[in-house]
This record gives sequence, C-alpha cells and structure tokens, in this order.
Amino acid sequence: MLLHHDFSYTVLSILSPLLLLYLPSPTSAACECGYALPSNASPPQTFYTDLLETDFLHLKNLSTNTDWSPQNYTVTPAAARGPWGKNASLSNILTNPLASKYDWGSDDVLGGLELYVTGVGNEGAGGLVGMAELSSVREDMLYGSFRASVMFTGERGTCGAWFWYLNDTREIDIELLSAQQNASAHPINLVLQSPASAEAGFNAANTPTFSHPSLPFDPTDGFHEYRYDWSPTSVAFYADSHLLTTMTTSIPQVPGHVTLSHWSNGDKGWSQGPPKQDAVMRVGYVKAYFNSSDPHRQEDWQRRCGPSRDKEGQGGMCVIPDAVVGEGGMSGNATGKTFFFSEDEGNVGNQSISPGSWDGDVPKQSRGVKVGMSEGMVVVTLIVLVVGSFGILVAEVSPI
Ligand SMILES: *[C@@H]1O[C@H](CO)[C@@H](O)[C@H](O)[C@H]1NC(C)=O
Ligand SMILES: *[C@@H]1O[C@H](CO)[C@@H](O)[C@H](O)[C@H]1NC(C)=O
Ligand SMILES: *[C@@H]1O[C@H](CO)[C@@H](O)[C@H](O)[C@H]1NC(C)=O
Ligand SMILES: *[C@@H]1O[C@H](CO)[C@@H](O)[C@H](O)[C@H]1NC(C)=O
Ligand SMILES: *[C@@H]1O[C@H](CO)[C@@H](O)[C@H](O)[C@H]1NC(C)=O
Ligand SMILES: *[C@@H]1O[C@H](CO)[C@@H](O)[C@H](O)[C@H]1NC(C)=O
Ligand SMILES: *[C@@H]1O[C@H](CO)[C@@H](O)[C@H](O)[C@H]1NC(C)=O
Ligand SMILES: *[C@@H]1O[C@H](CO)[C@@H](O)[C@H](O)[C@H]1NC(C)=O
Repeated sequence: MLLHHDFSYTVLSILSPLLLLYLPSPTSAACECGYALPSNASPPQTFYTDLLETDFLHLKNLSTNTDWSPQNYTVTPAAARGPWGKNASLSNILTNPLASKYDWGSDDVLGGLELYVTGVGNEGAGGLVGMAELSSVREDMLYGSFRASVMFTGERGTCGAWFWYLNDTREIDIELLSAQQNASAHPINLVLQSPASAEAGFNAANTPTFSHPSLPFDPTDGFHEYRYDWSPTSVAFYADSHLLTTMTTSIPQVPGHVTLSHWSNGDKGWSQGPPKQDAVMRVGYVKAYFNSSDPHRQEDWQRRCGPSRDKEGQGGMCVIPDAVVGEGGMSGNATGKTFFFSEDEGNVGNQSISPGSWDGDVPKQSRGVKVGMSEGMVVVTLIVLVVGSFGILVAEVSPI
C-alpha cells in the first residue's frame, strides 16, 4: 500500500524566554525514491524510479496528452508480410471519456480509448487495412512493470498488442488474436523477440521465448489488466495479477518505448482476418513504472532520493498495488475504480512527462521537485499567542 508521510501536525509548546521554533524539515514528494513491487515479488526488492500513468477512461482529448504519440503510417502488403497492408491513422483512435471523474463505467457504458481496425466487408485482399497505434513519447524505458487495462475485440481477425519495443529483435510482446478465441479457450501470445526470433523468420511460434497460455477469463467480456514485469534477469507476464509465465533468456538490456496497437494484415498464421466489420480494442489505463536510461533522469533520481536511499524508510518509496479484478473484469465503482499515483501531486516528482491526465483536462506543466522541498506548496501557518508571560506556539504544516 501507499506509504504516507504524516503531513500535518500540530505543535503545542509553552514558550520559554528563548523562543524555540520547532519545525520539521520540509517534505519531498512521497514517491521520490520510486515505485516498488510488493515484498513477495520476484526478483525481491525490485523498484523503479519513473512512471507513466494514463487514465484513458477519463481522457477527453488525446492530443492534449504529451505522454503519447499516435501513429500515422502505411505499410504495403509485401512489407506487412500478409495479403493485406496496414494503414495506421489517427482517425482510428477515439477517446470515449466517461461522464465524470467519479464514474468508472458499467457493463452498459464502457468508456476508454478506442483503437479501431476497419472492417473490409467481403473485399478481396490487396488493400491497406485501417488500424490504430500509439506509442509512448518516452523512449528511455529500461526495465519496468508495464500494465494496461484492455478489453479486446470479439470481432474475429485482428491482433491486439501491448508491447515494449526497441527494434524487431528487442521486443516484449503481449498479443491477443481474436480469431483464436472461442467459448472454451482464451489463448494469449507472450513473446520476447530476440536475435533467435530473427533466425526463425519472426514466426513467434518458432522462437524459444514464446508462450501461449490460456487466460482464466474471456478477454472480450470486459477490462482486464495485462502486465509484464521486466528486470535485468527475467520477464514475468501477468493477467489480472495472476502470473502466466516467466522467461529468463533473451532478456533485453537496452531502452525502448511502449506501444498499444490494434491491427490486421490477413496473415492466416497470425492475425487472420481482416475483420468483416469495424473491430474495437478498448484501453482503460496504462500504468508503467520503469527505470530510465537517461543520465539526466538518473541524476534527478540521485538528487531526489539520495545516493544512500536513506529516505526510503521515511516513505520515499511507494508500493505499487496489484490490480484486483473480478470475474467479469474491471467495471464500475466496485472494480473499475483504480488507483493512480499521479492523481496525487504530492506523490510524483518529475518522474513523468504528462502527469495528471486522470482529470481528463489539459495537462499541467511537468512538475519538478527540489531536494528537501515539497513539490506541492507547503503552507506554514504560525499562530503565536502570547498570553501574559506564557505563550503557546501552534505550528501547522499542511500540503496542498
Ligand atoms: C532501477 O534503478 C534504481 C536506481 O538506479 C536501481 O537501484 C534499481 O535496482 C533499478 N531497478 C531494476 C529492477 O533494475
Ligand atoms: C483537442 O486538443 C487539440 C489541441 O489542444 C485541439 O486542437 C482540438 O480541437 C481538441 N479536440 C477536441 C475534440 O476538443
Ligand atoms: C499522415 O501521414 C500522411 C502521409 O505522410 C500525411 O499526408 C498526413 O497529413 C498525416 N496526417 C496527420 C493527421 O498527421
Ligand atoms: C489511411 O486512412 C486514412 C483515414 O481513413 C485515409 O484518409 C487515407 O487515405 C488512408 N491512406 C491510404 C494510403 O489508404
Ligand atoms: C461511484 O462513486 C462516486 C463517488 O463515491 C459516486 O458519486 C457515484 O454515484 C458512484 N457511482 C455509482 C454508479 O454508484
Ligand atoms: C536492435 O538493437 C540492438 C541493441 O541496440 C542492436 O544490437 C541490434 O543490431 C538491433 N537489431 C536490429 C534488427 O536493428
Ligand atoms: C477453441 O480454441 C482452441 C484454441 O484456439 C482450439 O484448440 C479448440 O479446438 C477450439 N474449440 C472449439 C470448440 O472451436
Ligand atoms: C526534470 O527532469 C528533466 C529530464 O531529466 C530535467 O531536464 C529537468 O531538469 C528536471 N527538473 C527538475 C526540477 O529536476
């Protein structure tokens, strides 16, 4: 759980002839040292210094969010290695905010970012299939815990993907193929693309780091959390906080970015399709906690947290809560309401680009944190009452 500073306190003291002003050292951001996996996690004591959180259920306008870069590109059928090509267009990404920030959706009102693959009816192969893709602006992600709440399409013939990427041989991939789903089986494809995958012709199924377990739920029935925890020695894949598999070979050791994508190229061996009708993949949130390869950000962390991490025990480290998801996925106040560290400005100190997308409005400026100072304002109110020869000092310190 989130560790809190006790921000406010009251000092009542009797004034002595020598006025003793006791004030605490001003506080810093609560999570200035980083974000830790729970203590029973593997590897133990894993933590990350930076974060990217986006609440897509309440995001009104993607272009005001500076954390994400919607993609606009085309790929010919030949280059797409399928009978169809691909056309990633901004017009295939729609925001769909819930009515208010207190509203967390229901089975009838879903909300979330919509990534469309356009239906092609019964047309023959050869054109470009409309698709949707967005990537993080930050490309300095080196190890981390990457989580996305997604409701995949029930329309057959698309690939829904949530992945980390540097290039075709340095990639951590979760891919859901809608054509593989049926009433009795819900397979999901977990892949580390590596130099060995290149040798296998990028056919994921032939790569040594490929797993396709069946999910314990229907990924098209609601929002579920898909997650990969990438450390220097392993990549562990989770669905709704349940461990699916851990891979320990071909672990990438270079920085990259994360991407959400929904596409089809008609490849019989993979995406199949394209779908007959428009198919939508919904994204409820992204929560990414990661280390930065950027020396400036590493220095920032050193300054914020201190080389000895001596503030850790005082609340400078926040524990990332596991998603708790019911049978039908995350929906409504009971299970859809979810926690963002960035919702509370006091938690987050210059670890992100576009903090506070949770309010669905224009993002605030990137906030900095100076060592030894609260990034929020610390209001110090001193009321000195002198009554005769006695005085009472009331010092109240509270965050905003
Ligand atoms: C993340 O970076 C911090 C600071 O350099 C380091 O102490 C920590 O071990 C790193 N975490 C992982 C999982 O590598
Ligand atoms: C979204 O924000 C952009 C940039 O601020 C603005 O140009 C555009 O009109 C906005 N779109 C909507 C639908 O509000
Ligand atoms: C997308 O790319 C095409 C081709 O490069 C360009 O003509 C178009 O203006 C771009 N659209 C947007 C919205 O950036
Ligand atoms: C890609 O899709 C966009 C939006 O539907 C469309 O305007 C554009 O013409 C398409 N590009 C190609 C090359 O088909
Ligand atoms: C969800 O919780 C908020 C705040 O507690 C409340 O205002 C709202 O009515 C609740 N929504 C439903 C559907 O219960
Ligand atoms: C991918 O990146 C790695 C690490 O920088 C590099 O060694 C490799 O050559 C790249 N592979 C491709 C296919 O670009
Ligand atoms: C359901 O899908 C699984 C895996 O994709 C397949 O093995 C199984 O035969 C399918 N069952 C039916 C009834 O289609
Ligand atoms: C915040 O981080 C950026 C990127 O490392 C850095 O350029 C900037 O100086 C930092 N701001 C503060 C106040 O530390």
